[in-house]
Amino acid sequence: MIFDVFTLFPEHFEWFAGQRHVRNAGEHGSELRFFNYRDTTPLGAGQVDDSPYGGGAGMVMRVDVVDASLEAAYGPDRDGVRKLALTPGGRRFDEGLASELARESHLALLCGRYEGFDERIVAHLADDAVSIGPYVLSGGELPAMVVADAVLRKLPGSLGDSESALEESFSEALGGAPEYPHYTRPPTYRGWGVPEILLSGDHAKVREWRLERSRERAART
Ligand SMILES: C[S@@+](CC[C@H](N)C(=O)[O-])C[C@H]1O[C@@H](n2cnc3c(N)ncnc32)[C@H](O)[C@@H]1O
Repeated sequence: MIFDVFTLFPEHFEWFAGQRHVRNAGEHGSELRFFNYRDTTPLGAGQVDDSPYGGGAGMVMRVDVVDASLEAAYGPDRDGVRKLALTPGGRRFDEGLASELARESHLALLCGRYEGFDERIVAHLADDAVSIGPYVLSGGELPAMVVADAVLRKLPGSLGDSESALEESFSEALGGAPEYPHYTRPPTYRGWGVPEILLSGDHAKVREWRLERSRERAART
């Protein structure tokens, strides 16, 4: 998969790009690339935003600037790239959307800043608008990392052998429910014990217990 991030702050991703599962994905053929809107802006002095028509506080990311960035990256034919504008009011990001995106071969995440995007970016340049939750962050960089993390860890080779994305919270294997609780040594700590069944060695019963806890958690959320 090619994963492109369009941002004013590519340096914010240095830590993320160094994470093990991201590097693993890279070693298995995925590519994470960054494009700075400022590098290709057609406006002078690196301008990328402008004041909103109709008045109001803050600045708005310009449609011609984002278009120029996409043009420089892909040229006029962008059909093979699924382009997602990150915006608080977009489609809520969840495990289902992460799985859907993991099946794409080429993704582009558009990070906004300031008051957000000129709406024509969302309507005409992006294929979807995506939100990581009903709250407002200062920029699209953290949302882009959230989306990229959840998607990349689903790609073959991203997680180590001892880890698995198959049976996790919200996975098909658990019927979309949250995962069951885990415990490890010591068996008691400050008087807090571990459920006996997990120490019994009876794998069938352990499985049954785990699925039951998972269903319980689903019923509570
Ligand atoms: C300060 S926010 C703009 C908020 C916008 N004025 C509003 O009220 O919806 C700047 C940028 O951060 C990103 N952003 C902030 N919160 C987000 C969220 N919950 N999900 C996705 N992107 C978000 C978007 O890219 C957005 O364009």
